[in-house]
Amino acid sequence: MPRFEDSDFGVEASPAAAGGSGAAVDARSPRDRSSMAGSLPIPNDAGNITEIPATRSSISDAAQFMHNLSLSPSTRDRRGSRNSFGTSLPIPRSPRVSRLSSVYTADAASVSRDILASQVQDMSKEKVAAAKNMAFAFDIDGVLAHGNEPIEEAKDALRMLNGDNELGIKIPYILLTNGGGKTEAARCKQLSEILEAPISTDQFIQSHTPMQALSEYYDTVLVCGGEGQKVREVAENYGFKNVVHPKDILAWDPTISPWRVFTDEDRAEAKPRDFSKIKFDAILVFADSRDYQTDFQLIIDLLLAEDGKLLTRAKDPVASRIPIYFSQGDLVFPTDHKGPPRLTQGAFRIAIEAQYKALTGVDLERVVYGKPERATYTYADEVLRSWMGQIHNQNHLPQNVYMVGDNPASDICGGNMYGWNTCLVRTGVFQGGDNDEQNPANFGVFPNVLEAVKAAVRKELGQEFKMKWNPKVNPVLHSNNSSAVE
Ligand code: G3P
Ligand code: MG
Repeated sequence: MPRFEDSDFGVEASPAAAGGSGAAVDARSPRDRSSMAGSLPIPNDAGNITEIPATRSSISDAAQFMHNLSLSPSTRDRRGSRNSFGTSLPIPRSPRVSRLSSVYTADAASVSRDILASQVQDMSKEKVAAAKNMAFAFDIDGVLAHGNEPIEEAKDALRMLNGDNELGIKIPYILLTNGGGKTEAARCKQLSEILEAPISTDQFIQSHTPMQALSEYYDTVLVCGGEGQKVREVAENYGFKNVVHPKDILAWDPTISPWRVFTDEDRAEAKPRDFSKIKFDAILVFADSRDYQTDFQLIIDLLLAEDGKLLTRAKDPVASRIPIYFSQGDLVFPTDHKGPPRLTQGAFRIAIEAQYKALTGVDLERVVYGKPERATYTYADEVLRSWMGQIHNQNHLPQNVYMVGDNPASDICGGNMYGWNTCLVRTGVFQGGDNDEQNPANFGVFPNVLEAVKAAVRKELGQEFKMKWNPKVNPVLHSNNSSAVE
């Protein structure tokens, strides 16, 4: 994999990278680096892993937020940071294709429709090529749904992309969410039900999905966040050998968290061990905490511990600190709450950073995955390429990718940096004027996802493109007479 220079991202080189008087660049992977905090790894390829250079700072945001809690800085501010390019985020080299794909339905009606559609497509080769050369990446919360409530226009948009259009063709799309906390399969099942469209795990990326690559580096991990103990299954599916959930530690010693939330049901699911003898390798936050106090306490305990061992305190907490990874950095997200968007994992992270700074006097180094991080978009490309193979038997990336999102600081910022077309919708976090001032959507602002999809499809396939399949279509007339479609 090529190495990235600061100049690739349009910023000035840091003193170290420029060969100045700064510290030498550390070329080790996160695994090696965990034993010597303070140094930063640079991209490296090993086995099935690719390491993508970070596009946001690895240094705590706490100082910046402690006096002025505001939304994320603009793209320009992020990219101008001298600390932004020192670390790397491992991602899988290629996505795992699941056995749960639910794209193809084979009932008699769909078979005869597919035959008719392929005849129509044979007559419209240019449009078909254009349809296969475009794709969508959809944010979920605030674009397709609010929590478990679908956004109605999203159902129509997905139906059209799934073939309810004049060509009867599937226009590829993936779902790229900063959400998480349960397995990809469980979330896809839930989404398929509420959106009334089959969503395959092969077209689906949660905030923590690319973090499966970290299982190549760390064996024993504390995994935090999400409902119940579902993140345990997520981490085990990713291949982490020894997954510890905070409830396991509470079951071993409830006094470790003075104001814990710990029920009989929690105890039944927990897997207590003698944690005085266990060395943790890393901390992974996969989703919003449901017990802030316990998660704060355990994370701070491990960050300050001697080499990742509970009940200890390191003489030099910085030198022996184990690494911490957050699956995403959003400060707020839209829910079914009628008021302003609600706080989410970014706010939790900033609180950890502030506590660490207050206790040690130094800024916490951490890695944040999720949109707008480049690694997440790089992984999305891999998923999209693989999905193209499944639905169109083509092993290439579409040239015209449209990110549809509601959060300028994550969806739009990341999409713009990655060179995608970006569409901002008004059904979620964004509640501003004509466009977002700091991270403007380059394709435009739309009232909802359906309007964004229609605009993009018309741009690529023509203003007259019909967003409805006509079961009485005459393939012969279709090629040169659009009236063949009602
Ligand atoms: O930031 C919280 C998360 O739920 C946002 O999800 O789909 O808007 O990226 P999404
Ligand atoms: Mg969103």
